[in-house]
Amino acid sequence: MEIASGVPTVEKKVVAAALLFSAAMLALLAFAAVRLGISVPGCVTNVKPFANGELIQLAPGRYEAHVVSKMFSFKPSPLKVPKGAVVDFYLTSQDVVHGFYIDGTDVNLTAIPNAVSYAQAHFDKPGKYQVICHEFCGLGHQDMVGVIEVAP
Ligand code: CUA
Repeated sequence: MEIASGVPTVEKKVVAAALLFSAAMLALLAFAAVRLGISVPGCVTNVKPFANGELIQLAPGRYEAHVVSKMFSFKPSPLKVPKGAVVDFYLTSQDVVHGFYIDGTDVNLTAIPNAVSYAQAHFDKPGKYQVICHEFCGLGHQDMVGVIEVAP
């Protein structure tokens, strides 16, 4: 029994064209990846200073906090700054969506994988500020707390 004998030539040409097109696309993809070095965007948390989270002092009293959240902690924590410090928070997540609410301030962010959220806080009163995750993120969600220590 000859199955292929009934296939019209037009269909054979369309199949051949589709295969040729697919091969061309794969070749272009390989060319872009190998010769042009183009690849898909990486994860924010692979990039310094987000790789581990970091507190950077820009000037006396001025800080940038690059915070990484992941099940079930914030890094770095505790974050230590002096009284009167102005801190720019840049926040991302290594896994799922987390909340980032600094108790006693109006900072209330959402940590999103592959994205950076921003807020600025002024710490005029010394003491310990709790950072609370307010997005349900898993079994340890209720224990996901960070600390910001503002020295007198
Ligand atoms: Cu992290 Cu809830």
